[in-house]
Amino acid sequence: MRKFIQKALEKIEKLDSQQIQKLVSDLAQENERLEVVLESMTDGIMVTDTENRLVLYNKSAERLIPFVSVPEVYERKVWAVIADIEISDFVKSVLEHQETVRDREFSIRVGGEPRTLSCSVLPLVRNGKIQGNLFHIEDVTEKRAKEIRLRRAESLASLTTLAAGVAHEIKNPLGAIGIHIQLIKKSLQGKGRVGKRALMKHLDVVTEEVERLNKIVVDFLFAVRPMDAHLELRDLNGILLDLVKFVEVETAQGDVKLNVELAEGLPRLLLDEKYIKQAVLNLVKNSLSAMPQGGVLTIRTERKGDYVRLQVMDTGIGIPPEYLDKIFEPYFTTKEFGSGLGLTIVYKIVKEHKGEITVDSEPGRGTTFTIKFPIPQPERQLIDYRQEVPEGVAT
Ligand SMILES: Nc1ncnc2c1ncn2[C@@H]1O[C@H](COP(=O)(O)OP(=O)(O)O)[C@@H](O)[C@H]1O
Ligand SMILES: [Mg+2]
Repeated sequence: MRKFIQKALEKIEKLDSQQIQKLVSDLAQENERLEVVLESMTDGIMVTDTENRLVLYNKSAERLIPFVSVPEVYERKVWAVIADIEISDFVKSVLEHQETVRDREFSIRVGGEPRTLSCSVLPLVRNGKIQGNLFHIEDVTEKRAKEIRLRRAESLASLTTLAAGVAHEIKNPLGAIGIHIQLIKKSLQGKGRVGKRALMKHLDVVTEEVERLNKIVVDFLFAVRPMDAHLELRDLNGILLDLVKFVEVETAQGDVKLNVELAEGLPRLLLDEKYIKQAVLNLVKNSLSAMPQGGVLTIRTERKGDYVRLQVMDTGIGIPPEYLDKIFEPYFTTKEFGSGLGLTIVYKIVKEHKGEITVDSEPGRGTTFTIKFPIPQPERQLIDYRQEVPEGVAT
């Protein structure tokens, strides 16, 4: 409550009629100001009381999700006011069953045009008590279209680098195949007897190089194939623990000690389990091959403000500073039989999760890869809300 109203209310019995008139007019002005703000918002807002009845809304809400046509929408259950069945069902199930997934996107037609609406339901908490709920509707049509355009441009750019990489990679095996076929031809054309063993040797090389070509193409396809990441609210630690079982087998063979430090009570994140496992496994594999004499491999999670941090650390050979900005590039490898695609794939997976990856390394001491995952909005609010609600109030 505004201070001047609170003060006036405290001494309301002592106010004369003129002062009361002034108070009412001030209140009306204040109210009008709030109304103007609410009406000038492009986002839709609908507010309910604790019984889920509609007590306040703005024009944008009515424009974005058509209301049912009834003479009076106030005091009705909020979902009974929303004409779109899908959105209405969503709001109803969130409010009635206290669902934890409290935001979703809907594709609907607004005035004949297809629009994407991002809808979220938030509890209104004041003085530690739930006062009702706020239903927020944002038209994200342009935002999503822009994201798709950006992603397309980005994937085209990386496709060009990859294609250049492939062209470079296939040069050597093709060259080798050419040379050995020439040699076979020569010995077949020659006058003397053709040694079977010599022929076999050339053919072996050709077969080997064809296999190499095949691997290049398969890896390339894997790297360029659009990712069908299916993001769901998941517990990162659970996924990591599952993966650790596999890693333990590998570390037990070498002389590597495995440290797993997972923070408790992490919020859930939007993750695709299959891809997260693949990304972490790629990092772990790199770490293991950086510690041929053994060492310590640490997998750690931690909450840091608006994001969750996942780190894979090793005490291996490290990366020279001049390589640091190359390691994510396709085909960059310092290993004799490396594909140079491991980190490219990790990078792609992290991006798909709207995360960020950074590396910190010191030659001779070790390397740390850090991935930051954004905490999704509803999870963030849910946590803040849990903290605000006093004990005894069910959440
Ligand atoms: N943990 C690490 N320690 C030291 N070097 C690393 C580590 N991770 C990656 N690298 C360097 O980055 C390069 C690229 O890695 P990656 O893309 O996985 O391809 P690959 O493992 O096939 O070489 C590696 O060849 C290596 O030089
Ligand atoms: Mg690798």
